[in-house]
Amino acid sequence: MKNLHLTLLLTIGSLGLFAQNQIVLNADLGKHTISKHIYGHFSEHLGRCIYDGIYVGQNNPKIPTVDGVRKDVIDALIKLKIPNLRWPGGCFADTYHWKDGIGPLANRPTIVNTWWGNVTENNSFGTHDFLNLCEKLGTEPYLSGNVGSGTVQELADWVQYTNFDGVSPMSKLRKENGREKPWKVRFWGLGNEAWGCGGNMKPEYYANIYRQYATFMTSTGNTRLYKIASGASDADYNWTEVLMRDIPHNMLDAVALHHYSVIDWNKKGPSTTFSEDQYFTTMQRAYQMEELVTRHSNIMDKYDPNKRVDLIVDEWGGWYDVEPGTNGAFLYQQNTMRDAVLAGMTLNIFQNHCDRVKMANLAQIVNVLQAVILTKEEKMILTPTYHVMEMYNVHQEATMLPLTIQTNQYKLDNRQLPALTCSASKNKEGVTHISLTNIHAREAQEITIDLRGAKYASVNGRILTAATLQDHNTFENPEKIKPTAYNGATLSGSQLKVKVPPFSVVVLALK
Ligand code: AHR
Repeated sequence: MKNLHLTLLLTIGSLGLFAQNQIVLNADLGKHTISKHIYGHFSEHLGRCIYDGIYVGQNNPKIPTVDGVRKDVIDALIKLKIPNLRWPGGCFADTYHWKDGIGPLANRPTIVNTWWGNVTENNSFGTHDFLNLCEKLGTEPYLSGNVGSGTVQELADWVQYTNFDGVSPMSKLRKENGREKPWKVRFWGLGNEAWGCGGNMKPEYYANIYRQYATFMTSTGNTRLYKIASGASDADYNWTEVLMRDIPHNMLDAVALHHYSVIDWNKKGPSTTFSEDQYFTTMQRAYQMEELVTRHSNIMDKYDPNKRVDLIVDEWGGWYDVEPGTNGAFLYQQNTMRDAVLAGMTLNIFQNHCDRVKMANLAQIVNVLQAVILTKEEKMILTPTYHVMEMYNVHQEATMLPLTIQTNQYKLDNRQLPALTCSASKNKEGVTHISLTNIHAREAQEITIDLRGAKYASVNGRILTAATLQDHNTFENPEKIKPTAYNGATLSGSQLKVKVPPFSVVVLALK
């Protein structure tokens, strides 16, 4: 009789008739640090990201600024604790000549931004403006060098201009332009999407170009340059293979990867009025990140088993149709709970792969694609994505705790995806944080977490949730979605029970 019961239970279980979410957290097996740079951002001269979103010029009559940069944006980004900011592109980077953006405003040339709507670029926001902004934000700059249409000398000069403390033509020029001390920029990208807008190169050709440019970009003083190779698009594994094979590893600190969650490049769908079917497809694309970082890392392991070269995902996020009535080339989209769970799931993936993934940059920071901030004249709102990035930032520089997860599936028609993703870490103060994202559009997830290797006395948390998946903050209702206290977790001995509502993100703190 007992055996019959067991057989029945196993059969019901294997049919998925009673589903169960089960996590085993190994609190004493942490080895790798979650680099804070996984929480990086990206700002391009594209649409209303730099001009309007960040920089509105000195003496703006309506918007309070610091050196021409919006004060509301500065304050919001300081609170977010952004560790690095990539600039000036994107595709724009391989058309950008940095000397156009230094010196007296009146002398700066006006150019055409050929990638993004052929709009006029007057170069009023340049190297000094960007690097000074990074100092105000307490963030590290990540400069994307022009390899597609610039010269080796031009990029070598930019390094000297920003970093050299001694006497040289470039440091002299910097001083003449009002900056005595160098900024000491560590992160340098050598081109962007070299397989596409950065020059339509083949990987073998780009690997040679990389070697040439990297040779003349010299570290000065105690600023050791961290050089980043323009990486693959999505599943172009051959690109990573060739770069890892053909570039000497003493010239290479990181290989990049770009992956956008886009339904169909010809029919991306609306950012707010999407269907569950479109939502599911976005989640499928986002979940592909797990496979991408695993497989690109596997290739890197083959050439670099000691993981000296990092994988950095320096463009990621959701990409939808622009808001009706806005310029198609400006990539301005709203941001809903779909974006919140996309961010939660993706950050969980990055954190669980933190032995190789050392940096990531959400595209883009203000008013473009999956932005954390949207602006409209003097108004500014924080998006659901901002709140997830803020809730998760407790993991920065903490030790990743390995876990195993058994999760219910989120099913739609004949498609299915894991409903839950999770990542965990222990910080220097000994606090364990667990982040849970439930992407299921209709069902809450009840989860049992088996806490192994540590004893905890208390749990508290925060949640980001909403009434509908399409909910979002607007300039009229800016705080419709914001994190609230979460009381849905109960701790009993080494077991934690949690209930996460549909399309919600929860971060727990255990002490
Ligand atoms: O983020 C928008 C664009 O997407 C970037 O300029 C480019 O690198 C990518 O294709």
